[in-house]
Amino acid sequence: MPRKLAAGNWKMNGLEQDVSVIKTLAERHAQAGIDVLICPPATMISACAGHGIAVGGQDCHAAVSGAHTGDISAEMLADAGATHVITGHSERRADHGETDADIAAKSQAAYRAGLKAVICIGETLGQREAGTTLEIIDGQLAGSVPDDATAENTVIAYEPVWAIGTGKVPTLEQIGEVHAHIRQSLVARFGDGAGFTLLYGGSVKGSNAAEIFAVAEVNGALVGGASLTADDFSPIVTALEQA
Ligand code: PGA
Repeated sequence: MPRKLAAGNWKMNGLEQDVSVIKTLAERHAQAGIDVLICPPATMISACAGHGIAVGGQDCHAAVSGAHTGDISAEMLADAGATHVITGHSERRADHGETDADIAAKSQAAYRAGLKAVICIGETLGQREAGTTLEIIDGQLAGSVPDDATAENTVIAYEPVWAIGTGKVPTLEQIGEVHAHIRQSLVARFGDGAGFTLLYGGSVKGSNAAEIFAVAEVNGALVGGASLTADDFSPIVTALEQA
């Protein structure tokens, strides 16, 4: 059975004082029977680690070290206390031109450092309207997910680009269709494909979490805006526990 994961992506938000959010989440959910992860900005990883909530990076460089000003390696994230790293978020694909090959290399760097990669895939609105969603998903799975991915070292997050930060959520049928497709393709490619945790991401909040978690093959969520405060994120964690 896939593990359930409630993951928060703080993006470029969070100062030292916001470690209090992690502490509150830990008080409420450290004993939850599911995995709870927050990916704060890299500047906060070491302050956020060690409180009972898993902590992850939002990106990493593919190399171990070297002349790459401003970049952070997977080993550095692990050294700071991270256990996970997001790779291939659509904002990285769009803002930094990251390709599927880049994302596969970053995911391999995560494995090398002992981190779990949370690999993000998802179609744009234009692609959805053109009817090419499943083709896009197939291409991203083939290109971004390394051959040595396992259910232990990889989580797949389906995040339609048009649903991120917009308040627009696909229908439950649309989410179910894509998740079933991802599951099928993982099962076809990997011996343990049935065990990968599959997340839905894009405008998840307390008010829609339970219905999304009831969709087959949805094992959790990757949450942006609604992960920034404990009071917004807690109901999502609780909904996943109860799903
Ligand atoms: P959102 O972001 O929950 O604010 O839509 C999701 C994400 O980008 O991971």
